[in-house]
Amino acid sequence: MFDQKDFLLLSEYSPEEIAALLDLAAELKEMKRNGEPHALLAGKTLGMIFEKASTRTRVSFEVGMYDLGGHALLLSPRDMQLGRGEPIEDTARVLSRYLDGIMIRTFEQEKVEQLARWSSIPVINGLTDFAHPCQVMADLLTIREHKGRLAGLTLCYVGDGFNVANSLIAGCVKTGMKVRMACPSGYEPDPDLMAWAAEEGDFLCTPDVMAAAAGADVLYTDVWASMGQEDEAAAREKAFAGYQINQAVVAAAAPGAMVLHDLPAHKGEEITFEVFEAHAREIFDQAENRLHAQKAILVKLMGN
Ligand code: CP
Repeated sequence: MFDQKDFLLLSEYSPEEIAALLDLAAELKEMKRNGEPHALLAGKTLGMIFEKASTRTRVSFEVGMYDLGGHALLLSPRDMQLGRGEPIEDTARVLSRYLDGIMIRTFEQEKVEQLARWSSIPVINGLTDFAHPCQVMADLLTIREHKGRLAGLTLCYVGDGFNVANSLIAGCVKTGMKVRMACPSGYEPDPDLMAWAAEEGDFLCTPDVMAAAAGADVLYTDVWASMGQEDEAAAREKAFAGYQINQAVVAAAAPGAMVLHDLPAHKGEEITFEVFEAHAREIFDQAENRLHAQKAILVKLMGN
């Protein structure tokens, strides 16, 4: 059962739909590893709109479409009329006549929602200030590969309650994971999402890093200042001092705890160099899994 048109927020997906995406991602990963052709999107074109910089999202979507026998087209707002004020509803209707799907990375969640409302083709959220659902699908795939399951595990996120944190709450609660957020006061995740998580799952948000990390199976962090917050860097350095995954935090977690980071990392700030390198295999598996998780999303939304 999979009748979603778009991929905008994990909170809109059922646990069964998320599980189906993860199963397909694992299957597609195996096929790629074995060199088995899987041209499930032959002749299809994905438009990619990037209003923020990207390495992983850009490359993994482009390679993903190539692997699936399709084509990806980079649409820079600098070169599009969208960047000169053409309304999103007109852009959506025009692109729907040429393309089979759109991936967009932008600032406002509302812009992605509006693009999806006016498009007759699937729209995929490649990151907004509110959510990063593609990242979290790769995160869940990585945890499942390393730990053999998701339900019942505890994930502790240390740092800024921004887009990645919001999507982690949705993805982890939907898959039966316990969530512990360690965020400084004023930098907590979305309040509505936290209220939902407290009702639906096992959820805690605290300013105390060690309390959040105690017994966790997965530790996760992100940069202190995300794209678009560069002019807040000095204030954030002060607010986030101590919100770091270091040896003491790893020691507080469960034995054999994984450490994840969505990248790029600022080593020495949100994570120490030593912890990053000790867990580099998990972190780069996580980066690789962007490719496999997104291929599953593309096939589910754009496949026949
Ligand atoms: N994690 C992530 O979204 O990476 P990019 O910004 O490089 O796409």
